[in-house]
Amino acid sequence: MPQINAVITGVGAFTPEYRLTNDELSRMVDTNDEWIMTRVGIKERRILKGEGLGASDMGAKAVEDLVRKTGLDLQTVDLVVCTTVTGDMVIPATAAIICDKVGIHKALAFDINAACSGFLYGLDLVSQYIKSGSKKKVILVSTEKMSSIVDYTDRTTCVLFGDAATAVLVEPTEESIGLMDSNLHADGFGREWLKIPAGGSVMPASHETVDQKKHFVYQEGKQVFKYAVTYMADAVVEVMHRNNLKADDIAWLVPHQANLRIISATAERMELPSEKVMINIQRYGNTTSATIPLCLYEWEKQLHKGDNLILAAFGGGFTWGAQLIKWGYDPK
Ligand code: UT7
Repeated sequence: MPQINAVITGVGAFTPEYRLTNDELSRMVDTNDEWIMTRVGIKERRILKGEGLGASDMGAKAVEDLVRKTGLDLQTVDLVVCTTVTGDMVIPATAAIICDKVGIHKALAFDINAACSGFLYGLDLVSQYIKSGSKKKVILVSTEKMSSIVDYTDRTTCVLFGDAATAVLVEPTEESIGLMDSNLHADGFGREWLKIPAGGSVMPASHETVDQKKHFVYQEGKQVFKYAVTYMADAVVEVMHRNNLKADDIAWLVPHQANLRIISATAERMELPSEKVMINIQRYGNTTSATIPLCLYEWEKQLHKGDNLILAAFGGGFTWGAQLIKWGYDPK
């Protein structure tokens, strides 16, 4: 039996039109462009406007973009996995809603939540379905309406996040391309430093939780930064070592876009020049599980079949990790 690998064969995306700039934010809270650019590296982020629109609407648009680009017949799709921390509602799964909105009616569909590492976890998971031979046409959607869980009176978080959605097609191949190595971790010791305290089973929604703003993202940035810088780079270096890769062998680092300083520290540990690092944080901010596939979407025309890409993320949980993928196709 030949070895079956799982390879990305197309990337779609949707980013909302509205651009929330640093100047606009400095009129809302006590912040300024200079602080945001030097401490984080963000100039603007996209925000989904419109009553009644949620993560599934952006996710469905990303799937439609994927269909336009690849000619995919949605009736052949047998698995849809959605990574999100901002699902439309607790029940049902956003993956099921997206399926209905785009016209997929019999696939296996469910959500996973690994916060900012969601895309890496999702790719690892769908690859297992593909390698086992159980699924053959898989869409991995990453959709985040972060603006729905951000307190726009809290300057420590509201400058960081943005909204976006992506959809990647993952298929089986007998070639030596696709997901080659996955080094993923989680440790709940970090749960106090990055969380949404209320709305779950521990602290269900009440008047008090709303009054106390406990349904918004809470982050102790310094603590998260400390672990992100070390753990993300450690995971990347481990993947490089166990695959005998030097910086020269790597075409691109595709890092989670939470902070330019974390990205630079990771590239430095890899001894990778900055020209080989995908960075679009200045235009989108932190879109949680959508950052990495949004980079793939924007750099797609510069990627060639067989290119070694290192994907790396760190996020709430804590969750973190790195993956090696050999890119699956030349520019179309
Ligand atoms: O994606 C999921 C994982 N998340 C991350 O990886 C994020 C990791 N953390 C970070 O990226 C950084 O910690 C932040 C960007 C969140 C914060 O940067 P920092 O350099 O760690 O700043 P800080 O929290 O230590 O705050 C430094 C100062 C404080 O003032 P004092 O106490 O020194 O007077 C803050 O109150 O900056 C102040 N500050 C701000 N000033 C202007 C915090 N937010 C702002 C702001 N504008 N928006």
